[in-house]
Amino acid sequence: MFDLAEASPLPAPTPLRLAVLVGTRGRGSNMMAVHAASQDGRLAAHIALVVGSKADAPALIRAQEAGLQTVVVDPKPGDYAEQLLACCTGASVTAIALAGFLRRLPAPIVSAYRHRIVNIHPALLPAFGGKGMYGHHVHEAVLAYGAKVSGCTAHLVDEDYDTGPVLVQKVVPVEEGDTPDTLAARILPREHEAFVEALQLLAAGRVTVRGRIAHLTPHSSVVR
Ligand code: GRF
Repeated sequence: MFDLAEASPLPAPTPLRLAVLVGTRGRGSNMMAVHAASQDGRLAAHIALVVGSKADAPALIRAQEAGLQTVVVDPKPGDYAEQLLACCTGASVTAIALAGFLRRLPAPIVSAYRHRIVNIHPALLPAFGGKGMYGHHVHEAVLAYGAKVSGCTAHLVDEDYDTGPVLVQKVVPVEEGDTPDTLAARILPREHEAFVEALQLLAAGRVTVRGRIAHLTPHSSVVR
């Protein structure tokens, strides 16, 4: 019979040490949703670093105002990947969250943090994703197509735009008379939820990737 007294002590779950990568246009609302969740105990994570590409990016300023550690890495030089990787390893980062980061992440970063990078996209992938599909372009395309639902997708990041395994999706209705702005405003709160939920899955060790599928272990069956 299995003797509990002989079982090894369970390792303590380790909170994620996150680097949040922001873009030049974003407001930083997804970053702040992650920060709030990590502060109030819903998410076992600590934002170790916020990385932006321009010092005056609104999201980076918001991060500084929230007391988060920030760094600017210029994406133009040829050693962008090395610099980014050095920042992440220097801050002992264990996972990366893309919150309004619009570039393709350099392959060495994807490879170093394989299945540990989460992006939030404001549509139901694989529709309305890919290069150039960001911000209002996404919502314009959804409305021009006549889709009756839209939403958001939190997914793991691979070497291409918006193609990695899906973790969480949320659906909202597209309503008659919607504009890109009204649709974006309906989706944004769902993005915050989906992004935090996806990171919670990662933090809880509930994600196993086989091929392009992210399999999610039910909460109760996680063995630590
Ligand atoms: C969000 O719509 C996100 O889906 C996309 O960029 C936007 C960033 O918004 N990737 P915010 O800066 O998080 O408010």
